[in-house]
Amino acid sequence: MDRDRFPADPWRLVETRQSIEDVGLTETLFALGNGYLGMRGNPPEGRHAHEHGTFINGLHETFPIRHAEQAFGFAETGQTIINAPDAKIMRVYVDDEPLAFDVADFREYERVLDMRRGVLTRHMRWMTPSGKDVVVDLERMVSFEERHLAVMRVSVTVLNADAPVVINCQLVNRQDGEDVYGGMAPHASAPTAPAAFDPRKAEAIDERVLQPVEYWQEGLRSVLSYQVTRSGMTVAVIADHEIDTANEYTARTLIEPDIAKNVFRVQAKAGVPVTVTKFVSYHSSRGVPARELVDRGRRTLDRARVEGVEYQFEEQEAWCRDFWERSDVQVAGDDALQQAIRWCLFQLAQATARADGRGVPAKGLTGSGYSGHYFWDTEVYVLPFLTYTTPHWARNALRMRYHMLPAARRRAAQLNEAGALFPWRTINGEEASAYYAAGTAQYHINADVSFAVGKYVRATGDMRFLYTEGVDILVETARLWATLGFWRVNEDSAEVFHIHGVTGPDEYTTVVNDNLFTNVMARFNLRAASRVVREMADRAPDEYRAMMQRLDLDPAEADAWDAAADAMHIPYSEGLGIHPQDAVFLEKEVWDLENTPAEQHPLLLNFHPLVIYRYQVLKQADVVLALFLQGNHFTAEEKRADFDYYDPLTTGDSTLSAVVQSILAAEVGYRELALEYFHEAAFVDLEDLHRNTSDGAHVASAGGVWTALVSGFGGMRDHGGDLSFDPRLPAEWPSLSYKLRWRGMQLDVTVTATEITVAAERAEHGETEEPRDDVDFAVRGEMHTVRAGESVSVPLDGQGPILTGRPTLSDIGDAMREDGTRLSASVPVSTATTGIPIISGIIPVVSGQPVEEGNLGVDS
Ligand code: BGC
Repeated sequence: MDRDRFPADPWRLVETRQSIEDVGLTETLFALGNGYLGMRGNPPEGRHAHEHGTFINGLHETFPIRHAEQAFGFAETGQTIINAPDAKIMRVYVDDEPLAFDVADFREYERVLDMRRGVLTRHMRWMTPSGKDVVVDLERMVSFEERHLAVMRVSVTVLNADAPVVINCQLVNRQDGEDVYGGMAPHASAPTAPAAFDPRKAEAIDERVLQPVEYWQEGLRSVLSYQVTRSGMTVAVIADHEIDTANEYTARTLIEPDIAKNVFRVQAKAGVPVTVTKFVSYHSSRGVPARELVDRGRRTLDRARVEGVEYQFEEQEAWCRDFWERSDVQVAGDDALQQAIRWCLFQLAQATARADGRGVPAKGLTGSGYSGHYFWDTEVYVLPFLTYTTPHWARNALRMRYHMLPAARRRAAQLNEAGALFPWRTINGEEASAYYAAGTAQYHINADVSFAVGKYVRATGDMRFLYTEGVDILVETARLWATLGFWRVNEDSAEVFHIHGVTGPDEYTTVVNDNLFTNVMARFNLRAASRVVREMADRAPDEYRAMMQRLDLDPAEADAWDAAADAMHIPYSEGLGIHPQDAVFLEKEVWDLENTPAEQHPLLLNFHPLVIYRYQVLKQADVVLALFLQGNHFTAEEKRADFDYYDPLTTGDSTLSAVVQSILAAEVGYRELALEYFHEAAFVDLEDLHRNTSDGAHVASAGGVWTALVSGFGGMRDHGGDLSFDPRLPAEWPSLSYKLRWRGMQLDVTVTATEITVAAERAEHGETEEPRDDVDFAVRGEMHTVRAGESVSVPLDGQGPILTGRPTLSDIGDAMREDGTRLSASVPVSTATTGIPIISGIIPVVSGQPVEEGNLGVDS
C-alpha cells in the first residue's frame, strides 16, 4: 500500500490524496453496509465511477440462461443482484461551478472509514477557479440499528467571500434511467466488457429492469418506487432533507420516474456554514406492492427524523462499540496489520449484521461481483466468525438455508437423488450456476451447510434450533449422500461406500470420483444426522415425533447413514504417503507453477478448462481444507505430508485459499509461510492483490482472516464440541488476543510466547438454553476449567513444530505413483508462439531445474 496516501491507523482507513485512477478499488474499500443495504464509496458528486453501486441484499432480476447446448436439469434461470436507485448524490456548486474531484484544486483532502463509529467522512478544502476558499465536509452512514436507513450530511462553508452555493440532492435510477447528463446507465451502454469472459463479474442485463410504479414529492421528501421486470420484486427509496443554515436559501424540486431532485440554493455569507442532511430509506420485497413499501419507508423516515441526525450517529457508534467488544482481534505492535485485520472484521459486520435471514453475498454489499450470489463461502468461511462472536447472526444465516429446503428438495429430485441438494450459487434458492462442472457438481455444499449447523450448535448449545430446523437440514442432506453414493466390495471383501461424479472445492479439477474433501465432509454429515436423530429420540421425544412425521423418516435410515459413513472410501496413496485429491488425481501431469509466468495467472483467465483439468494443479485448498475442518480424523504426519504435497500445486487463484493454507502451514510448523499466506489474505483487498477488488470485497477471505487468527495462530479447535487450544504465535507478534462466545460465556483469549490466558464472563445475551458458570478447555491435551469472572493462564512450551522455508515441487519431483511412474512437472506449451514442440516422451524439467537422467519423466 502507498502509506503516504493510506497511512496506517489501527481503527480507521484513511485516504489523504484522492485519485480517479483507482476509483473502482476505493469505492469498494470505502463502501458502507449493514448486511441489508450497501453503498459503495462513491463520492456524493456522483460522477466518475467504476460502479455507482447501491445494493439491497436479495434484490435481483432473473434472466433465461442461454446454454450453447441445453441438457436436462441445467439451471435455466439466472439471477443477478441489481443496482438499486442511487441516493448518494449531493452535488455542490459554488458560483455555479461544480465541485468536480478530477479537476478541482484541493488544498486539503481526507477520506476516512472510521470503523469505531461506522461512518464514512470526507473533508476537503477546495480553492475554486475564482479564488473562493471552500470547506466541504461529508458524513455518511448506513445504519446498523435501522437496517432500512442511511444518513448523509454535507456541510459547505465559503471561508473568504460571499458566494452562491448550491447543494443538489438526487435519487437516480441508474439501473436503466438516463442520468442527468443524458448518458445511458452503465449496464445498457457498456456491458461489463471483459466480464463476458470473467466469470467473477456480474451478469449484464440489456432490457429495462426497473419499472416505475409510484414517484412523488411532498415538502422536502422524495419518493421513487419500482417493480423489477422479470423477478417481480419491488423496491422503494424515500429521501427526506433538512437544511441548517443562517444564510438565506430557497428549495426547489423536480421529479420524474427515474430521478428526484431536492435542490437548495443558498446565498452563503463568508464563514457561515450550510448543512444539508439527507435521510434515506430503502425497502424491498419479493411480493409486497411497491406502494406498501413506500408506506414502510415513510414510517422509517418519520421515526428517524424525530430521533434526529445526532441520535443516528450516536447509535451507530454505540452499535460499533458493542460489535468490537465481542469481535475484535488484536495483534500487538503493528498498526498496519491491525488496520487490515479490523477492516476485514468490519467487512464481515457490513456483510452480515442485518441480513436478518437473507444470505451473505460473496462480495457482501460492496459490489456486484459474482452477481450477488450466496455460495458455500457463507457456511465455511463466514459462519465461524458469526458463530463465535454474534451467534444469532449465524442462526439467521442458517435459517436462510432452512427456508431454502423446499427448492433444494426439488433440485435433488431433478438430479435423481433423495433428500435435498442446496444450490451451488443462488439468491432465491434456485440453482443459478450455469456451468455445472464447477457449479452444481459441488455437492459438498450440502456437507458445508451441515457442518455450519454442527458448529453453531456446538458453540451455542442452541438445541431448539437443532431440533426444529437444524435437524431438517442434517436429515435431508444425509439422505442425498445416501442415494448419491453407492457400495462396492473391495479386494479385501470389505464393503466400501463411494461418491462419484462430483467436484470438490478446487475448481481446477471437476466431476471426479471420490473427491477426498467431499467424502470426508459427507461422512461428517451422515454421522451428524444419525446422531441428532438418535439423540432426539432419547432427549426430546416431542420434537422427535414431530420431526419423524415432518420428514417422513424411517428410523432405519439413520442406520443406513451410519453404515455409509463407517464405510466411506477415503482415498490414500501408500506409494506417495498422501491422500489423493480424488480417484485419478495422481495420474495427471503436475503443473509446474514455479515456472509459470506471472502473466498466465489466474489460470482460469488464460487457459481453457480442459487444459487445466488435465493437470495436478489447484485453484484453492481442497484436501488441505479437509485437514482443517475435519482435523481430528488426520494424524500430524498425514497433515504434514498432504500439506507438503499440495502446497506447491496450489495457485491460490481463489482468495478462499490463502487463509486455509495459512492455518495448515501454522499447524504443521511452516511459520514464515503461515504468516506470508496470512498477509496475503489480510491485505487481499487493501492492496488489491487479485486485481478485482473493484468488483467488491472478498468476504470469504475476510472471514478466513478471522479463522486464521483464531484457529491458525490462536490454535483454537472445537472438534466434537470440545474446546481446545494449541497456539502458533508468530515470533514477530508480541501477543494475539481474541474473543470467543462459547455456550453463553464470553471468553477473552490472549496468547503470548510463553503462555495462554483464557478469561471468562457470562455473556450479556447468552444464546445457550442452559447458561453455565464455567468452561472446560484443553491446552495441548491438558484439561482446564475457567469460571465466570475468572481467568486461567497456562504456560506454553514453544509454539509447536518449527519448519523452515516452504514445500517445493522438487520434493514431489522424486515421488512415484502407485503404478511405478515418476511424477514430473511441466507448464502447458504455448504452440502459438513456439510452434509444434518435439516431444520425446520425457519432459526434462522438474522444478525448473534440469534433472538427472535417473529422475526423468516416465519410469518403465
Ligand atoms: C471459488 C469458490 C467460491 C466463489 C465465490 C470462486 O472463485 O472457487 O470456491 O465459492 O469464488 O467466492
